[in-house]
Amino acid sequence: MAHPMAATSTNADRPARGAELELTVDSLAYGGAGVARLDGYVVFVHGAIPGDRVRAVVDKRKRSYAEARALEVLEPSAERIAPLAAHPGAPWQVLPYERQLEAKQSQVQEALRRIARLDSYELEPIVPASEQWRYRNKLEYSFGADREGRLTCGFHAPGRWDQIVELDDCMLASTPGNAAREQIVRWCREQRLAAYDRRTGEGLLRNLVVREGRRTGQLLVRLVTSTGQLERASLAAAAEGLHGLLWTRLDGVAESTQGGETELIAGADRLDEELAGMRFRISAEAFFQTNTEMAERLYGLAIEYAEPHGSERAYDLYCGIGTIGLLLAPRVAEVWGLELVPEAISDAIANARANEIDNAHFFAGDVRLALRELTGRAGRPDLLVVDPPRAGLSQKVVRRLIEAAPRRIVYVSCNPTTLAPNAAQLVEAGYRLRRLRPVDMFPQTPHIECVALLERR
Ligand SMILES: C[S@@+](CC[C@H](N)C(=O)[O-])C[C@H]1O[C@@H](n2cnc3c(N)ncnc32)[C@H](O)[C@@H]1O
Repeated sequence: MAHPMAATSTNADRPARGAELELTVDSLAYGGAGVARLDGYVVFVHGAIPGDRVRAVVDKRKRSYAEARALEVLEPSAERIAPLAAHPGAPWQVLPYERQLEAKQSQVQEALRRIARLDSYELEPIVPASEQWRYRNKLEYSFGADREGRLTCGFHAPGRWDQIVELDDCMLASTPGNAAREQIVRWCREQRLAAYDRRTGEGLLRNLVVREGRRTGQLLVRLVTSTGQLERASLAAAAEGLHGLLWTRLDGVAESTQGGETELIAGADRLDEELAGMRFRISAEAFFQTNTEMAERLYGLAIEYAEPHGSERAYDLYCGIGTIGLLLAPRVAEVWGLELVPEAISDAIANARANEIDNAHFFAGDVRLALRELTGRAGRPDLLVVDPPRAGLSQKVVRRLIEAAPRRIVYVSCNPTTLAPNAAQLVEAGYRLRRLRPVDMFPQTPHIECVALLERR
C-alpha cells in the first residue's frame, strides 16, 4: 500500500537500496521518522528531526517512498538537543520535550483530519508525562555478543537485528529495574551461556523481560531462551531479592517473548501493583500499561469521559486485568469485561475480589466472536469502553459495537491512525466524536496514546 504522504516517481528518480544520500529533513512523520524529499519523492529518515541535514543510507525502496537511516548529522537542526543516553528506545530524546508534545498533539489532529475527515470535536491539550525518564515498568532486553564474543544484553541497534546496544544504565528503567537485569546477566556470564544466534541456531539466551511494581517495589524477571537446559537450582539462587523469576523456552527463529513454555524458577509468577487506590495482581502473561504513573492519569481521563451517573451497564472490552472496569465499577451499576488472555481474566476476577467489588464480571474471549454472546447474556450496554491493541478494531468489530448500541463509547487508543478509521465508521453510523485528548505515556519516543469520547446522536 502506498504511504499516504508519498508521491509516485519513475524508477530512475528513486535511490537504490544501500545508496547513501545527503538529505534535508523538513517535518516529522507519524511513527517518528523525519521526512525529506528528493524532487517530490518522499524519504522517511529514521534518526533525523526537522531542520537536520544528514547523510543517510536507504534501507527500503518502494514505488512511492523510501526509508533511510541517518548515519551522520552534517548540519544539526536548531532544535536538536544533546541526547542524555545512547538508547535505541528513546529516538526522540534529541527533541526538546515541549516539541515532542506539540508533535504528538498535531499528529493526532492530523490523523483524525486526514483519515477520518473529522475536525469538529473538542481536541484537548496533551497531558504531559509526570516523568520524562525512568518511567517504564516493563523492559524487554535482547541478548547478543560483542566483537570479542562477550555476552551483551541491551536493545537492537536501529534497523539491525544482529547488533545489540548494551546499556549499563537503561534510562527508561528504574534503578532497581536496572539492578535486576544486571543480576541475571551476571549469572548468565558466570555460567558461560551464549546468546542465541539466529543464523546458526546455536546459543541459548534470547531475551530478558524485567517487570516492576512501581508502588510495591516487586520485580518479576523472565529469562527467555531457545530450547535447551539450564542449571535450575543455580538460577534460583541467582534470583535473590527478586519477587519472582520465570524461565520461558521458545522454539523458532522469530524474535518474540510470547508463547513457548514457561516455568517458575523462584518466588512468585506474578506481581502486584497499586493504582488509584486499588491493588492489582498482574500475571506474567497479562498486559499492563508500561507507565504506571501515567496509566493512572489515562484511566482517570477515561472515567471522566465516560460521565457515569451510577445507573449504567458498562462494558470494558479488551479489559486486560480489569483496570478500567474496576475503577469504573463504583460509579456504575454493573461492569462486564471481555479479554482474550485467560490469565488476565483470572487476574481481573481476583482483582475484583481483592478490592471488594461485586458488580464486575469478567470473561475470556475474542471480542470479534464473543461480543454478541455477551450482549445476549448481560443485556445491551449504556456505556462501552474499548482499549484495543495497536491494530485497532476491525470493521466487523465496529459493526458489532454499533449493534450493541451503547449511548457513549470511550475509546482508549495507542494508535491514532487506527482510532481514526474506527471513529469515521462510528460517525457514519450515527455517533458524534465529542472529545479527544492525547496522553503522553511514552516520553522520548514517538508513541501516542489518547482517549476519545463518541456519543450516539
Ligand atoms: C492495550 S491492552 C488494554 C488492556 C487494559 N484495558 C489495560 O488498560 O490494562 C489490549 C488488550 O486487548 C487484549 N486483546 C487483544 N486482542 C483481543 C481480542 N481479539 N479480543 C479480546 N481481547 C483482545 C490483549 O490481550 C490486551 O490485554
